[in-house]
Amino acid sequence: MDARLRTQELLLRQKSGFSLDRELYVSPETYALDLELIYYRDWLFVGHDCELAKPGSYITVQVGAYPVIVIRGADGEIRAFHNACRHRGSRLCSAEKGAVAKLVCPYHQWTYELDGRLLFARDMGPGFDPASYGLKPVHCEGVAGYLFICVADRAPDFAPVRAMIEPYLAPHRLRDAKVAHETTIIENGNWKLVWENNRECYHCAGSHPELCRTFPDTVTHADPNGSEGDPALVALWEKCRALGLPSGFDMADDAQYRITRMPLLRNAESYTMSSKPAVKRPLSDAVRSSGLGALLMYHYPTTWNHVLGDHAISFRLLPVGPTQTVVTTKWLVHRDAVEGVDYDLDELTKVWLATNEQDRKVVEENQIGVNSPAYEPGPYSPTQEAGVIQFVDWYTGTMRRRLGGTPERRSEVA
Ligand code: FES
Ligand SMILES: [Fe+2]
Repeated sequence: MDARLRTQELLLRQKSGFSLDRELYVSPETYALDLELIYYRDWLFVGHDCELAKPGSYITVQVGAYPVIVIRGADGEIRAFHNACRHRGSRLCSAEKGAVAKLVCPYHQWTYELDGRLLFARDMGPGFDPASYGLKPVHCEGVAGYLFICVADRAPDFAPVRAMIEPYLAPHRLRDAKVAHETTIIENGNWKLVWENNRECYHCAGSHPELCRTFPDTVTHADPNGSEGDPALVALWEKCRALGLPSGFDMADDAQYRITRMPLLRNAESYTMSSKPAVKRPLSDAVRSSGLGALLMYHYPTTWNHVLGDHAISFRLLPVGPTQTVVTTKWLVHRDAVEGVDYDLDELTKVWLATNEQDRKVVEENQIGVNSPAYEPGPYSPTQEAGVIQFVDWYTGTMRRRLGGTPERRSEVA
């Protein structure tokens, strides 16, 4: 049967409140459709402006089959390009990050400006027009220190994302941060299992002793169905608002992204073993008071984030196969914070290094069980796993619409 029809059939068969059919977690056909219909169409978080400190600084990212480079131009603008030479297609930059004066193709040395214009191509004959062979642009947007790209010809409108998340994030001044540490791990699990695990804390008490010292597993704190009834939440939001920090629970209509603030356990300041700040120098002078909890933001399909007073942690999730996902974690601190003086790297990273490893294991065990022909979809807890139900509903709804050719609800821009 045609892969699209088969996937449509599986999605139609999907019982609300239950995990997905095995094929949707394992099959190469579904994986190809996930890339085509989600990763190749939506905005994807890739990194932070502060990683591109000066003109020529770049990061690269692999989105399915698309290698992409994100680079700061001589004019200070950050742009993204397909990381493929316009001569015969060689990848221009193979490093994950670096800095260059010009983009020089390693194959025959075609040379591009940082804004993508072709500057030099040797012996191409009299009729050759360099203006026709600039690097192909990729949509790129920056918001409050977070960079997003979209490889589609026509990208969804980014304005609603910006309008929702910028007021929350801007006071934390992540443009003035630096990456103190980053890790990349491969989880042998389908990207949807990685998300499902992230969207619940049903597993936290059993898996995350370090994180559970400071991170509450209270279900109302991140309940997608609304948290207004939780007095601890409302008190935190009022406290934050009084300090000029926008607070509440904001979620896109289709639940693709959400931003909120939540208290930490016993007024913890940070995700450390002591619950005290890991970094003496706060990220922002605007967020110096204690007991402001954590700012949580996710955006499907690539990122979830925690922003604290002293540091921020970003997570980027990119699938590299039907049952393999690359998770990149970055710890951001104030750019003037000095390791060994203002923070101890081990203290800063200990909790999430442990948590990531624990999550990798649970995702991989989940995948092994799902691989079994004996697996059948099981019921989610309506209270503990409301976030997972919401993710799965977003996934199945998005796939059904896009497979069915129904027009997107959101407006699109060229
Ligand atoms: S492929 Fe890049 S210069 Fe030839
Ligand atoms: Fe976890």
